[in-house]
Amino acid sequence: MKRSIKSVFNKKNKKKIICLTSYSYNYTKIIDDLVDVVLVGDSMSNVLYGMDSTRTIDDQIMINHATAVKKAAEKSLVFFDLPYNKDFSESNTVKRVLSVMKKTSCDGVKIEGNTELEDVIKYLKKKNVPVMAHLGLQPQKFSSTKKFKIYGKKKEDLNKIISDSLCLEKAGAVSILLEGMLTKIAKQVTTVLAIPTIGIGASEFCDGQILVSEDMLGMYGNNHPKFVKRYEDLSKNIKIAVKKYAKEVNNSKFPNKKFRYD
Ligand code: KIV
Repeated sequence: MKRSIKSVFNKKNKKKIICLTSYSYNYTKIIDDLVDVVLVGDSMSNVLYGMDSTRTIDDQIMINHATAVKKAAEKSLVFFDLPYNKDFSESNTVKRVLSVMKKTSCDGVKIEGNTELEDVIKYLKKKNVPVMAHLGLQPQKFSSTKKFKIYGKKKEDLNKIISDSLCLEKAGAVSILLEGMLTKIAKQVTTVLAIPTIGIGASEFCDGQILVSEDMLGMYGNNHPKFVKRYEDLSKNIKIAVKKYAKEVNNSKFPNKKFRYD
């Protein structure tokens, strides 16, 4: 059965919320019944398109991928990660979100930003668009992944994130993603909020977790952030298979009579 926004985000204090990224039909088919939320993340700019920043991907590319993901997701909720745009005015953000929702039929949208999103979230709630806010390390604020900084080291950070998250909860966010921050901060935010937090590099104290699938499957680069656990080494397995294939083609062992039309 298709999960509902309520059934997933009401899991706070009962069960963890399981989330992963996906950019494709095929991969979504594999993970669909194993996760609560599939995020069509703007991390595709790094992982799929080899860009150094998430600022360079545009709405249309993300819409193409989200359409494929949505087609495959029979059970999980699909959230669209709103990419960077120079014009982050309330009217333009709302216009873009409504257009994305119409074109992809996604179940919700994730938006990076702080209290400037208050009215956007209020408006989208009225339009029945569930919003996951994104606080802490916000990749769209950086021109390169090499410049990322963990959130929470400044004295004022804790109070700011608590008041921002309460403001966005009040505005109507269904959840808040917490990225790259000190454990004590993620723990406090999770405690003060009634809505669930989804963590990435934000400790086990969050209500749910998300990882970039290619990171946890060992499909993207050799250097990964400290918070990534590699559950598989698919790059290694793919290399073994491709080497075997190349060897068999070179030795005329593949194809053979089992694989041909006589
Ligand atoms: O784009 C992305 O993959 C993200 C992560 C935080 C999951 O936003």
